[in-house]
Amino acid sequence: MPRLPGGRVMPALIEARGLTVRFGGATVLDRVDIAVMPGEIVTIVGPNGSGKSTLVRGLIGLQPLAAGGVTRKPGLRIGYVPQRLHIDAGLPLTVRRFLSLPARVTDGAAAEALARCGVPGLEARQMAGLSGGQFQRVLLARALLARPEILILDEPTQGLDQPGTAAFYRLIEEVRATTGAAVLMVSHDLHVVMSASDRVICLNGHVCCEGAPSVVSAAPEYRALFGLGTRGAFALYRHEHDHEHDHDHGHGHDHAHPHHLAAEGEDAR
Ligand SMILES: Nc1ncnc2c1ncn2[C@@H]1O[C@H](COP(=O)(O)OP(=O)(O)O)[C@@H](O)[C@H]1O
Ligand SMILES: [Mg+2]
Repeated sequence: MPRLPGGRVMPALIEARGLTVRFGGATVLDRVDIAVMPGEIVTIVGPNGSGKSTLVRGLIGLQPLAAGGVTRKPGLRIGYVPQRLHIDAGLPLTVRRFLSLPARVTDGAAAEALARCGVPGLEARQMAGLSGGQFQRVLLARALLARPEILILDEPTQGLDQPGTAAFYRLIEEVRATTGAAVLMVSHDLHVVMSASDRVICLNGHVCCEGAPSVVSAAPEYRALFGLGTRGAFALYRHEHDHEHDHDHGHGHDHAHPHHLAAEGEDAR
């Protein structure tokens, strides 16, 4: 854990130790250790079904654990954008009303959040009528209204094209810079995410490797999961293996020693 001058330990916003989740007989997450420090941008990458959303839900307290534990800073304000939020096209719901769910916000706060997210003046629009990029930005605006100390975004750029994705990540960095909020993101957009993250955690039922983006993208564990890197998301579906990841028979990996690739002290911020 990072230390402040004088040797005091800086508390994580959220920290999990040995986080284990089972569905039926299947172990979906096996002894995952993860911590997010104030102001950090941490990205979780991993193939489909590797437990990314389940991990995020476990960290927030929405997912019961089979073993292990999660510590959250007392009173921690979390802005969470779930992976799937389907709004029925037949449901009349304006942006303005959506921003007041679940907690009422003032017109001024709503307008400011929309402007900050690059979609000013959308209040009267129907949620179901927004473009993909507008919708994601409205979700982010709603999450920001909670004045979060940490934003947790589960595949926030799903459905956006490349320029839309890049713009969204620039916005996330800007939000971090202006609010100081930490960001924990799940993403498939590997190449973009790599540049926008302080730390990347490569997940496949367990932590395969983690560290600074440049360190992770060079790691054999990462390359085994994502190919050699330049083709980004497409490499995901090739999912080449040089070590075993068999969900049905445990994760075939040395769980006691996940590969922490950051040099000593590298994650001290
Ligand atoms: N509520 C649930 N009940 C049973 N199985 C689940 C549930 N949620 C997720 N799973 C399974 O757990 C695994 C991990 O899912 P998920 O965390 O959504 O992966 P990812 O977000 O990395 O794609 C998948 O095999 C999925 O089918
Ligand atoms: Mg998911």
